[in-house]
Amino acid sequence: MAGKELVIVEDLHKVYRMGEMEVHVLRGITLKIDEGEFVAVMGPSGAGKSTFMNIVGCLDYPTRGHYILYRQKVSTLNTNQLAEIRNKKIGFVFQSFNLLPRLTAVENVELPLIYAGVPRKERRSRALKMLWAMGLKGREYYTPSRLSGGEQQRVAIARAIVNQPILILADEPTGNLDSVSAREVMVIFQRLNDQGITIVLVTHESDIAQYARRKLIFRDGKVVEDTGAVALQPLLKGGTA
Ligand SMILES: Nc1ncnc2c1ncn2[C@@H]1O[C@H](COP(=O)(O)OP(=O)(O)OP(=O)(O)O)[C@@H](O)[C@H]1O
Ligand SMILES: [Mg+2]
Repeated sequence: MAGKELVIVEDLHKVYRMGEMEVHVLRGITLKIDEGEFVAVMGPSGAGKSTFMNIVGCLDYPTRGHYILYRQKVSTLNTNQLAEIRNKKIGFVFQSFNLLPRLTAVENVELPLIYAGVPRKERRSRALKMLWAMGLKGREYYTPSRLSGGEQQRVAIARAIVNQPILILADEPTGNLDSVSAREVMVIFQRLNDQGITIVLVTHESDIAQYARRKLIFRDGKVVEDTGAVALQPLLKGGTA
């Protein structure tokens, strides 16, 4: 099934300058990700995985190359448009949960809705529904320090999806979790993917990567392996037609 293209990157490079030194972190990444895909990004530490995710999430920009997100050329978008895309189209999940410690679970989940201008009552009811869907009934008014790691990550996922994003970017979301909590979190990602949300997830663990249908292996700033036969098929067909 040929899906719609969500992410297209072409010859993506990223060079960090540190004084006199240049660090060439991404060295020409070309790939596309269709709507509805579940992609695992793997590879050794320092290979450029997080750098790639940050660019895809519009949190950072490439030094060179093209990036088209949802049919829009990201380099042509202004700061407000980028903020809007980040807030409404993309949900981020990080290894360290990144919840605000003084806010309750439900208040954390409400944050993206505040930025989106959703009225207070609707905010609360949507945030509560998200938490319940994540199996967090009874934990709504806990602050993060009173929640387990797995519970905190599920609050973070609720926050990531409360705006109904089309894309979830998760950078080692199970990296700080025990294996039972990790599996719970992966089952949630799988469910979200079944609902049609595109997921790109960085992991070092092959049993976590098994949940994805496609694997990208990064090494030294390049993709050295891509099992994305499904995604490449339309390109090949297009090429021979
Ligand atoms: N802001 C920065 N300035 C300079 N160098 C950076 C910056 N961010 C990342 N790097 C360098 O870029 C390289 C790739 O980093 P990146 O975080 O993308 O790797 P990674 O594949 O996510 O690794 P890990 O598996 O350890 O998370 C590393 O050598 C890192 O030191
Ligand atoms: Mg990383």
